[in-house]
Amino acid sequence: MDFDRYAVIGNPIAHSKSPQIHAEFALQLRQTLEYSRLLGHLDDFAGDVQRFFADGGKGLNVTVPFKEEAFALATERSARAEVAGAVNTLLRLADGRLHGDNTDGIGLVRDLSINHAFPLGGARVLLLGAGGAARGVMMPLLEAGIAQLAVANRTATKAEALAERVNSWQLSGVRCQVTGCGLAALGGQQFDLIINATSAGLTDEVPALPAGCIAPGGWTYDLLYGEHPTAFQRWSQTQGAAQSLNGLGMLVEQAAEAFWLWRGLRPNTAPVIAQLAA
Ligand code: ATR
Repeated sequence: MDFDRYAVIGNPIAHSKSPQIHAEFALQLRQTLEYSRLLGHLDDFAGDVQRFFADGGKGLNVTVPFKEEAFALATERSARAEVAGAVNTLLRLADGRLHGDNTDGIGLVRDLSINHAFPLGGARVLLLGAGGAARGVMMPLLEAGIAQLAVANRTATKAEALAERVNSWQLSGVRCQVTGCGLAALGGQQFDLIINATSAGLTDEVPALPAGCIAPGGWTYDLLYGEHPTAFQRWSQTQGAAQSLNGLGMLVEQAAEAFWLWRGLRPNTAPVIAQLAA
């Protein structure tokens, strides 16, 4: 039997949970498909993608370090991928063109607002980091109706440039202006939600934030996840966060959005998140 074929491509890739997540979605929605892991060549990502689709592949998820290259390869892109400057989902259209999307930000917004009932509307949000992970979540956050988006980064100039870049898009229906600054400049400010999109947690570090940035009742969200609470989650608890979430829910939600794009069906994410968290 010929299955529709999908894959996640990255380097490294062995750790990826995406095959397990998509297998659960397919089972739930009675879809016959194959979803595998592809170890991308650091010097020939374009060739890997070309071969996958030439062999009849239907869709690819793209992870570190190829999201910017996937952006460049896509022949057309969603608005949220344009703003992100990165693509995590590729879909081959009927005419052979490659559509690129970025489902990371909507995955974060859905995890916060649907799975955890966090009121994003009117929220004062601080986004830590100014790399690809931060860029990837900005447009869906702004579109969720937040009141303030401050981007703060260890290297202040990068946060300032990112804020300027996103403001220049003048997204329809978005009134809030993005501001950019260094970490120390946050002293005296308070936020309802602090999102950690830095890679500091990979070395068990936490961005050097002044104390008191979390508003009373405020939440934090680490885009990273692991078996144990991340360094940022542990820091959040010492700072009195009402909730400190990790990125597992976002991982499953961004996968569900990709599944929707490819198959036109929306998986129920709750049982899959529960299974991965167990
Ligand atoms: P990604 O694509 O995952 O965002 P990246 O583009 O390398 O990766 O960006 C990593 C981000 O984490 C940057 O914002 C980086 O800050 P700098 O721009 O100052 O380098 C941030 N970062 C990494 N380690 C950090 C640490 N120990 N403390 C604070 N920020 C850190």
